[in-house]
Amino acid sequence: MSLSIVILAAGQGKRMRSRLPKVLQPLAEKPLLGHVLDTARAVGAGDICVVYGHGGDEVQARFPDEDIRWALQAEQLGTGHAVLQAMPGTPAGGRTLVLFGDVPLLSADTIERLLDNTPDDEMAVLTVDLADPTGYGRIIREGGMVVRNVEHKDASREELRVNEINTGVMLCPTDLLKRWLDGLGNDNAQGEYYLTDVIATAVEHGVTVHGIKARSPEEVAGINDKQQLAEAERALQQLRVEALMRRGVGFADPARVDIRGELDCGSDVFIDVNAVLEGKVTLGDGVSVGPNNLIRDAVLGADTVVHSNCHIEGAETGENCEIGPFARLRPGARLAPNVKVGNFVEIKKSNVGDGSKVNHLTYIGDAEIGAGVNVGAGTITCNYDGVNKHKTVIGDGAFIGSGVELVAPVEVGRNATIGAGSTLTRPAPDDRLTLERAKQFTHKSWKRPEKKK
Ligand code: UD1
Ligand code: MG
Repeated sequence: MSLSIVILAAGQGKRMRSRLPKVLQPLAEKPLLGHVLDTARAVGAGDICVVYGHGGDEVQARFPDEDIRWALQAEQLGTGHAVLQAMPGTPAGGRTLVLFGDVPLLSADTIERLLDNTPDDEMAVLTVDLADPTGYGRIIREGGMVVRNVEHKDASREELRVNEINTGVMLCPTDLLKRWLDGLGNDNAQGEYYLTDVIATAVEHGVTVHGIKARSPEEVAGINDKQQLAEAERALQQLRVEALMRRGVGFADPARVDIRGELDCGSDVFIDVNAVLEGKVTLGDGVSVGPNNLIRDAVLGADTVVHSNCHIEGAETGENCEIGPFARLRPGARLAPNVKVGNFVEIKKSNVGDGSKVNHLTYIGDAEIGAGVNVGAGTITCNYDGVNKHKTVIGDGAFIGSGVELVAPVEVGRNATIGAGSTLTRPAPDDRLTLERAKQFTHKSWKRPEKKK
């Protein structure tokens, strides 16, 4: 049976105190709504409709995805009214699941459990038991069966004592939902059209409403302010780290690592404290990431070691490389296997060949470095003339002395040696020593000036 998913995202989110609409607030780099959309896709929704209101243009612009249908709720008259806005385009005959755009941690597993345990012609609400249910809708059961929901503001003293609350996630046969939403009133404490009133309507019509429990309160927590956002971030990080540990990834401290994007790890990977991994990162077998590293959109080959305090972005290494401490690999840095990049070295848009070493205080940009090259301390590829970028090419086995400036475009031959301190502006031939250096001179009669009395 086809599944339509309606995601409510029209609320303003005033408590965020942000110019950014609430559902665009980032959780692990991704907008809250993005997490909900991923989950909706993961459970195989045939139709996804986002009900938007506040900040609508910005929200739509952030998700140009073709599989999303957008429904405007110009005025926020309640959750029932919000779902009603989505109904005109919702395919008849199937089931509709309502999700909230600000509940990002709900797992696909839980939704699947809800779907699997509800016959096609019945209804379900996802509930959870809270020690402090203040503010939430209470699930009222009779003889164990769900009969209605009562909002906190409308609840009697006795109803307020109920700890089982409505998470907001609801599943209903679409045709029945359309009919029941049309009949909703707003005669309640908040003057809103409550989606939750559909529960009692279903029971009146003899349709069973299943109350299915979520895995944990964290899973169904709504995000309303920056504190809840930070709490959700920690909860999500913990889930991610736990999943990685189950797959064999080692962490010095599972509470002190941030995996903000997608992390793909081989076996025997170890990650030390304060590693921040963003975007799409792939760590090969045996990779070790030291403390205080930021790695974004990178692929690190097997057995590569990243020592502490490196910044790696858009880079790729082969097997068995050694990076840092304090190294920076920028976009387009490609290291062949067995390359060493040491402290205070920056490499951008360059290929570095097998076994080459760039160990200290060096800038390599727009360069093609062969295999077995040794780049001395303080070497700089002068790649930019103020207008254009130019290339430096260094042949296999070359030895670049310390403090060399390679003024691009320039070429260093195979097995060439460049004397320390040279400023190279012309090609240096294979197998020879090339120097560009003023003659050393000692002034025989020079004396240090003395302090005047
Ligand atoms: C709702 C439920 C309550 C449940 C709680 C869980 C109703 C009547 N109540 O209450 O039973 O315990 O969520 O958090 O459904 N929204 C719109 N348009 C609107 C109103 C809301 O899009 O007109 C969206 C909001 O952006 C939000 C979600 O719906 O994502 C829930 O709205 P909210 O105002 O937080 O509902 P509650 O009153 O907290
Ligand atoms: Mg709420």
